[in-house]
Amino acid sequence: MKIQVITLFPEMFEGVLGSSMLWKAKERNGVEYELIDLRQYGIGPRKQVDDPPYGGGDGMLMKPEPIVAAIEAAKKLDPSAKVYLPTPRGEIFKQSKAKKIAKSEQGMIIVCPRYEGYDERITKWIDEQFCIGNYVLTGGEIPAMALIDSVVRLLPGVLGGEASAEIESFQADDKSIEFPQYTRPEDFKGMKVPDVLLSGHHAEIQKWRKENSK
Ligand code: ADE
Repeated sequence: MKIQVITLFPEMFEGVLGSSMLWKAKERNGVEYELIDLRQYGIGPRKQVDDPPYGGGDGMLMKPEPIVAAIEAAKKLDPSAKVYLPTPRGEIFKQSKAKKIAKSEQGMIIVCPRYEGYDERITKWIDEQFCIGNYVLTGGEIPAMALIDSVVRLLPGVLGGEASAEIESFQADDKSIEFPQYTRPEDFKGMKVPDVLLSGHHAEIQKWRKENSK
């Protein structure tokens, strides 16, 4: 899967894409990340990417030309990729959507807005708008990272030994929450691991886990 991110802050992604599972997915599972610096599509000698809103108001908006030029360049590299826009106006992003994208293995192009927002006309180039929760962030980079992380970990082979994608939270209906888990020590500051988990009794453990899922 090819994942292209259009952003004014490519350096924000280095830690996230360069660590742990997302890094391993690149090394071992053929996931490709492409960070596209929107500034390079800016207009004029100052590489302008923003302008004040028509009708007045606070702050600046992202101009349409640089964003559309960047999307079109990304599409050339991966013509069947879907274009995503993080925005508080989008539909709430859920585990079921992450699964659907991972299953399709269709490439992603993610446009990260900044400032007070974007010129609405860019939405003609967007396939899906998504929101990661009912709060407002300063830009689309953190939602883009959440989208990438939730999808990449579900790609075949990425989770390796952990059969965990099948039993973790939000599986069946976007609602259920996985049971609580414990590791050593058995007694931590007077708090004991539930006896049943130490019993070695597989059926009882399964029953306890079912009862303790929400
Ligand atoms: N941009 C700013 N806040 C956001 C949110 N909660 N989800 C997606 N994009 C956003």
